[in-house]
Amino acid sequence: MKKTHLITIVALLLLLGIGINFNGATAKKAPVKTNIVTTPPPPVPHPDPSIAAFQEMMKVVAHKRCVNCHPAGDRPHQGEDSHVHNFGVQRGEDGHGTVALKCSTCHQKENNDFSGVPGAPHWHLAPRSMGWEGLSHREIALAMTDTEKNGGRSIEEIAKHLTEDPLVLWAFEPGLNHEGVPREKPPISKEAYIEAVKKWVETGAKIPEE
Ligand code: HEC
Ligand code: HEC
Repeated sequence: MKKTHLITIVALLLLLGIGINFNGATAKKAPVKTNIVTTPPPPVPHPDPSIAAFQEMMKVVAHKRCVNCHPAGDRPHQGEDSHVHNFGVQRGEDGHGTVALKCSTCHQKENNDFSGVPGAPHWHLAPRSMGWEGLSHREIALAMTDTEKNGGRSIEEIAKHLTEDPLVLWAFEPGLNHEGVPREKPPISKEAYIEAVKKWVETGAKIPEE
């Protein structure tokens, strides 16, 4: 065979993507690098349906969109890092702010996505007894269902508040912040959350040990 023919054949083989391993058996296998991203398997729901529903519900109830307005002290919190509210805003006597600085001076009935001020009807600070900041899921649930702390609400009234109150539902449409960036929403949809609350109550509203 002519040399030029051989070159043409090799070039053709290369073009066709057929690799010829000239080193044959002596070639060491290079370590295989994998870039496979392993997504962890979805967590198995708790076998007790009431506790499974509780765990879903708490993904929302313990979220910063709620806890920013259910703080431990007398000042609301803001933003994804839950910093203390700007402008020295205080709860005042009734949670609606001080005489000089009412919540309603800035917060309207709906989000203002131009100024970045969130809004919903009756925007005001949750009473001290409903401060959930720093509490575990179990502690929040115990406080939330304690009639001494929750405004004398029965479990059915709590379920109604959790599924219908405009301040609660605001968390699923939290609007844009002052930089025009969408506020983070709770990790499950409004529909999934409402279903979880109903399921939790129907199955006896169990509160698991930590
Ligand atoms: C803008 C402030 C604000 C936001 C945001 C807010 N709340 Fe509240 N919340 C309040 C106020 C004020 C009350 C007291 C109202 C009352 O007693 O009628 C309250 C009361 C409650 C109560 C009834 C009392 C209790 O302790 O059981 C529940 C439950 C509750 N909130 C859940 C939530 C959840 C869940 C979210 C988020 C999805 C949320 N709230 C977001 C202000 C807020
Ligand atoms: C001087 C205007 C002003 C007053 C008064 C005011 N706020 Fe705000 N508030 C803002 C602005 C602006 C933001 C949005 C900041 C951002 O996210 O960029 C905000 C954000 C918040 C948030 C954060 C929402 C979140 O999850 O990030 C809460 C909660 C809140 N305010 C509660 C209150 C309460 C309760 C009062 C009354 C006691 C009040 N504010 C009074 C201007 C005000």
